[in-house]
Amino acid sequence: MSEVIVTRNLSLGYGKKTAPVVEDVNVSVSAGEKIAIVGESGSGKSTLAKALCGTLAPRSGTVEIQGRPWSAIRRTDPERRSVQMIFQDPYTSLNPTMTALATVSEAFHVVQHLSRQKALAAAREALNDVGLSGDMIDRVPRGLSGGQLQRVSIARALACQPDVLVADEATASLDVSVQAQIIRLLVTLVETRGMALVMISHDLHLTRMVADRLVVMRKGHVVEQGEASRIFESPSTAYAQELLASAFLDAP
Ligand SMILES: Nc1ncnc2c1ncn2[C@@H]1O[C@H](COP(=O)(O)OP(=O)(O)O)[C@@H](O)[C@H]1O
Ligand SMILES: [Mg+2]
Repeated sequence: MSEVIVTRNLSLGYGKKTAPVVEDVNVSVSAGEKIAIVGESGSGKSTLAKALCGTLAPRSGTVEIQGRPWSAIRRTDPERRSVQMIFQDPYTSLNPTMTALATVSEAFHVVQHLSRQKALAAAREALNDVGLSGDMIDRVPRGLSGGQLQRVSIARALACQPDVLVADEATASLDVSVQAQIIRLLVTLVETRGMALVMISHDLHLTRMVADRLVVMRKGHVVEQGEASRIFESPSTAYAQELLASAFLDAP
């Protein structure tokens, strides 16, 4: 399988004089693969996600997108759009004055250079694909629920025709009943479109529903990675054992 993202000895930090918060990470994402990055709060998951999307430059090492480092990819190159992020809080990531339809059609117009009319048609289709239709698509963010807003964010990401969706705690702000719906939607979309999914979550129950492969982080390091079913069944590091035991202690 072809690799869409590869990190090599990746270290990341904030500010020049501070210690790195992610160190020596080697992970890869293949086309169509579903990966989950897990680890306790502060372990560096979101920092790694920013580097995968090219919004945080490496302190050392590289992140390659289809074989090219982010530093060599120009603003106008198609690779620039190939990794799209879905954030935890859809309300703050959407323009409060734009309707769902306007938000998504703007993306089709700007990114795919579709005419306004074609962009509207493409946006209706993308919104329909994420389960939004009827009068809902003419609402601004404050008229939509958290789950509906997250669907708008996903539709907007689809306008970029990405190879990878990176969902950073994308369901953490939603009601429990809605979380699984959004996760199932993401899985359906990536499977039907051949995209890869990088799911970042502190919720191991949700992770287990989705991931083919698991990357376990602790204090900025990858302590274990491999086939998800294998790690869920018999983690080989003490840390992964501990993390899974605490998550599944009360499982039926
Ligand atoms: N913008 C930032 N500036 C400085 N430090 C940050 C910033 N964002 C995160 N950190 C620090 O980096 C470490 C990893 O954080 P983060 O990647 O958000 O972890 P996680 O997503 O696993 O909870 C933490 O110690 C956090 O305080
Ligand atoms: Mg985080």
